[in-house]
Amino acid sequence: MKVTVVGAGNVGATCADVLAYREIANEVVLVDIKEGMAEGKALDIWQKSPINLYDTRTTGSTNDYSKTAGSDVVVITSGLPRKPGMSRDDLIETNAGIVKSVTENVVQHSPEAIIIIVSNPLDVMTYQAHLTSNLPRTKVFGMAGILDTARYRAFLAEALNVSPKDIQALLMGGHGDTMVPLPRYTTVAGIPVTQLIDQESLEAIIQRTKMGGGELVKLMGTSAWYAPGAAAAQMVEAIVKDQKRVFPVCVKLEGEYGIDDCYLGVPVVLGKNGIEKFIEIDLNEEEKASLETSRQHVREVMEVLERLG
Ligand code: NAI
Ligand code: 2OP
Repeated sequence: MKVTVVGAGNVGATCADVLAYREIANEVVLVDIKEGMAEGKALDIWQKSPINLYDTRTTGSTNDYSKTAGSDVVVITSGLPRKPGMSRDDLIETNAGIVKSVTENVVQHSPEAIIIIVSNPLDVMTYQAHLTSNLPRTKVFGMAGILDTARYRAFLAEALNVSPKDIQALLMGGHGDTMVPLPRYTTVAGIPVTQLIDQESLEAIIQRTKMGGGELVKLMGTSAWYAPGAAAAQMVEAIVKDQKRVFPVCVKLEGEYGIDDCYLGVPVVLGKNGIEKFIEIDLNEEEKASLETSRQHVREVMEVLERLG
């Protein structure tokens, strides 16, 4: 399996590294616009192979998409990250141009590829890539839900002093402050989380999750990369190994949850064909209202993109 990662910055290089050392693909191509960056990071990952014992061939290219030809999956991470004081939505104009030109190149050389978007603002960059690629919605979608859910699970594991492996959770909606963590669908080894934690502590964890990206931007002066890169690689793995994993994925909704024409994170089954099934869970009135707030926010940012043309 051949996987291309566009953007050899923090998230892209981390994703390529995970794909290589976990042997998720046998060929990984890293692409960046910055001269030598992708070649250098790919070479560094390849030189780690005798130490970490893997044989995934990792190569790099400065904007030469012929090297990506025939990719099965392409991950797009190219674009500016957030700086302190910026929201993800502040990145829209620059990143929309980048995602558009990258998607054109990707589709030209790998018309059969499944495309995973990571660039922010995530929901609207997924919209941009979907528009540009003209692919079915089941083959172009965004990564955010695995990351946001991982943050929620990690905070819960810390508060409960249990392994993060035993926390199962679901989170829906846009990749922003209006995301919708779902305590009714959160368990610790099958035990409803509400039986193990008081309401006030749970509410504090939900708030921290919603601001999870911003917390890291404040600490580091740029946005996160270890968990985002690993989350994107996990989606690639589900596709190339046809694992039928159930993940929250950002995709265009066409009637699911009563929502039309909006890009939001919802649970789906991921396998070799991309999104193979949309899962519609029961939401109570409060959860529906939160999802509607998230929809309205994403829709507003979609309209900014539409005005930019
Ligand atoms: P970074 O600045 O470290 O890397 C971005 C890379 O994109 C740079 O190396 C840059 O040269 C490259 N690039 C820019 N224009 C390009 C083009 N036209 N073609 C190819 N490469 C190009 O940024 P980082 O931290 O890797 O973040 C990347 C994106 O992912 C940002 O938009 C960030 O906000 C987003 N992000 C999304 C997350 C999510 O959950 N969906 C989580 C974390 C980051
Ligand atoms: C994150 O959530 C900024 O989207 C990026 O870390």
